[in-house]
Amino acid sequence: MLLNKSRIITTALILFVLLLPASAPADILFTESFSDPAAYHDAENISILPGSLNAKFHRETGDRIRIQDRTHGVTYKLDKAIPSDPQPDDLYISFCYRVLSDSTKDKFSGLVLYNNGSEVFGLGNDYVSQNYSFWTSDGQGIPIGEIPIPVDKQVHQIVLRITANPDGPERIKVGLDPFCRRSESRQPSHIWTEYETELAFDELRLRSGNENSVCEFDEIRIGTDWTSVTLADNNPGEYISKLTQQMAAPQTANRIGTSVARFWPDKPVGYYSFALNKKRPPQGPVPSGWKLEPNFGTLDDKQYVYVSIPAEVDLYGTGEVTGSLMRNGKKITLFNKDNYGYGEPDQLYQSHPWVFGVRPDGSAFGIVFDCTWKSQLDLRAGILFTTTAVAPDFPVIVIEADSPQQLMHKLADLTGTMPMPPRWALGYQQCRYSYFPDARVREVADTFRAKQIPCDVIWFDIDYMDGFRVFTFDPNHFPDPAATNEYIHNQGFKSVWMIDPGVKHDPGYSIYDSGTEADVWVKTAVGDTYIGPVWPGDCVFPDFTSPAVRDWWADLYKPFLAHGIDGVWNDMNEPAVFNDKTNGTMPLDNQHRGGGELAPGLHIRYHNVYGMLMVKASRRGIKDARPDKRPFVLSRANFLGGHRYAATWTGDNNATRKHMELSIPMSLNLSLSGQPFNGPDIGGFVGDATPELWAHWISAGAFYPFSRAHSAKDTADQEPWSFGPETEKAARTALQRRYRLMPYIYTAFRKAHKTGSPVMQPLFFADPSDLSLRNQDHAFLIGPDLMVVPKWSAPGPMPKVAWQTISLVGEDSSTDPYQCDLKVRPGSIIPLGPVVQTTEQINRSLPLSLIVVLDQQGKASGMLYEDAGDGYGYQKGQFCLSIFAAHRQGSEVIVQCTDQQGDWAAQKRLVSVKVVDANGTHHGFGDIVSGVKVSPDIAP
Ligand code: NOJ
Repeated sequence: MLLNKSRIITTALILFVLLLPASAPADILFTESFSDPAAYHDAENISILPGSLNAKFHRETGDRIRIQDRTHGVTYKLDKAIPSDPQPDDLYISFCYRVLSDSTKDKFSGLVLYNNGSEVFGLGNDYVSQNYSFWTSDGQGIPIGEIPIPVDKQVHQIVLRITANPDGPERIKVGLDPFCRRSESRQPSHIWTEYETELAFDELRLRSGNENSVCEFDEIRIGTDWTSVTLADNNPGEYISKLTQQMAAPQTANRIGTSVARFWPDKPVGYYSFALNKKRPPQGPVPSGWKLEPNFGTLDDKQYVYVSIPAEVDLYGTGEVTGSLMRNGKKITLFNKDNYGYGEPDQLYQSHPWVFGVRPDGSAFGIVFDCTWKSQLDLRAGILFTTTAVAPDFPVIVIEADSPQQLMHKLADLTGTMPMPPRWALGYQQCRYSYFPDARVREVADTFRAKQIPCDVIWFDIDYMDGFRVFTFDPNHFPDPAATNEYIHNQGFKSVWMIDPGVKHDPGYSIYDSGTEADVWVKTAVGDTYIGPVWPGDCVFPDFTSPAVRDWWADLYKPFLAHGIDGVWNDMNEPAVFNDKTNGTMPLDNQHRGGGELAPGLHIRYHNVYGMLMVKASRRGIKDARPDKRPFVLSRANFLGGHRYAATWTGDNNATRKHMELSIPMSLNLSLSGQPFNGPDIGGFVGDATPELWAHWISAGAFYPFSRAHSAKDTADQEPWSFGPETEKAARTALQRRYRLMPYIYTAFRKAHKTGSPVMQPLFFADPSDLSLRNQDHAFLIGPDLMVVPKWSAPGPMPKVAWQTISLVGEDSSTDPYQCDLKVRPGSIIPLGPVVQTTEQINRSLPLSLIVVLDQQGKASGMLYEDAGDGYGYQKGQFCLSIFAAHRQGSEVIVQCTDQQGDWAAQKRLVSVKVVDANGTHHGFGDIVSGVKVSPDIAP
């Protein structure tokens, strides 16, 4: 029951209830904006204050109420406001609220619902959890979202939606800081917290109930629909208005590509773009009718760029970020940060000053703020980029595109695409901090093969080093790294070994001595070598802004790789320094010498690209050492454009369901920020995963572009078999699915390499004009044709045309407790290989299968890219790109290879074909070059 029907009609105790005049829309039931101060003048500890609530984004012009130390607060009997017959199905209560106490501990304030004189539901600060939350009469306290600090003195707008349920508990949704200019269904998912509880009430109080507890309220509204309680002009607010009044149109604007424009606030001085892969000379004036123009301004010690956008535009990208896929309403600090066990912070390991916008019609735009300095992206009202006034002028590049897909291609035209990875890097990878000694590595490798769980790579975290000295090996635990590598190589594994930037400050240690002799270390403000603590204790740090230092660093890899090392993991390269006084990195006034095109500069200028420059040097060193192999580098820190040098993972996440869920939008937004090769630590790094969590995580994690399990020191074992037979089975099945899909996944990576098309794509790529797909946080696509719907994802909207669920290794995802639903887009053909234990086993003589799902016109198409899986033969024609097409002909489906490119084109190729439709699966087999016929009456 939503409302207590037997409630007694009483008048308000201390109030001014404004029941709307009869002419107002019927769905607004009650509003209170404290416009009659006289109604409160004799109330103890309650005051009406004039003017704005002084929030950055809530424009408040009328009065507000302040409540202090007031147990009963302001009480409203609701009987007059809310009809009892018929009762509304949905009731919305909205209010603006701000806590003014310095602590929430023991100091409650908020909006409380009462029934027959008893508290039944509260919404406000929670003095137990010391955060904003709501609680119910059963004593549950539920946090309401991403208010990052316990005492947040910002004004927040909170909307409570209560959906009546005659048969059970009411459905409660609490929205924190909604976008009032958007409809309810188009709110980003991050604003919502949902709950179910029985709820009947007849009274509402604005309260602060403890000593020295102070809060303010305004604009309380009750209504029966979203629009009646969320006024259109709440957003963007006076802060942006104030800024924009001072802003100037760009002084220089040029077209630098098709529908790509670059705007400068002033004449460029000393500008170098890390994001772009080459210089872009102006190609003429910006086309007339250009839609988005940034305005530049300075206020106090900050410089701003503001881009005004219509409210209905959905925003994405912004790099490595947690929270919902849709970024509207988010604030992100761009300053690479080591963030162990992160919650939902606004600052992580990488910086991507890039916003990806999609308009309701499916057209898209992207904005690059081409600045490396510490900065902030604020998407709460339009797009506001802020950096220090000390930073030199930087350009803003705006890309217009017909579709999100085209936007990705245009971004890649500017930033370059990812290099073609070695195929082994697309296999499953097993890591922990750390596998040691070497016997443990062998044991893990042996167990994978004994248990027939596919895996390609075993990782070596810092404990292989001698006292954490980079480029050394612990003589006790890893006396013969070459033999260890050979052992695992013989079983079809590759090895990736960690290298950090911090070099132990240790005279006599060869790397330290050689770096000191070559004078490669970052300097302090007064010109001394900077020394800061990391794993080995005191460390010095190569100054990667200098080309000579990058050369020195690159050269260190040749002898290191000679031990049979296949890939390199560059960690801690924000750079992380264990010093709280300098915020976990080096002092911002440390000096970098620059060189080549880079000016000398302070650390605050180069901090965000330190990791990027490091992996640029690492990649080159690896390439120089082994010119015939494709390098593989994994980096924790990076910057927009850094995909040219390294893949990435999302750092030290937690072994929690929440982090499993967060990982999907995180990987998607990284993908939409130009980094196709990414994934989180499967199972979660910090803490012990439960068997169930690990089974769920690996079942979805098998489809991350970068698929690696990793866990912290002192956590329980997290190999697929460590959790018991059920989790082991889930892992085996999930990874077998990945390996069967390897031809499709490899082809998707090749597309990313050729065009910048992301490997992992958000669901709205399936139909960019379908607004219901825009904020789907959990279902995602791999390439354009395969949808992954995790078992744990809440049911959400799907594309309008039904995609076909497939089975790959005999699994039935409709009954399996863990395996994701895999759905194929109508009109597509997916190439599959057999299950292998390592990608080393892949070659063209293995059987090839095609899954065909026809569209409504009875057609389908697809492609398959094959090459040697490593090396550069593909650049000289040693590959085959096969184009497949299928069409219905009478009662048959004809599937054929219509084109083959590359020297590996074949005259004949036997392929097994499955046509999947609503009636089942129909099989065929034959030479795909001349065409395979599948008739629905062939038995499966
Ligand atoms: C921090 C990294 O994020 C983590 O993955 C690694 O295991 C530790 N450093 C130790 O190297």
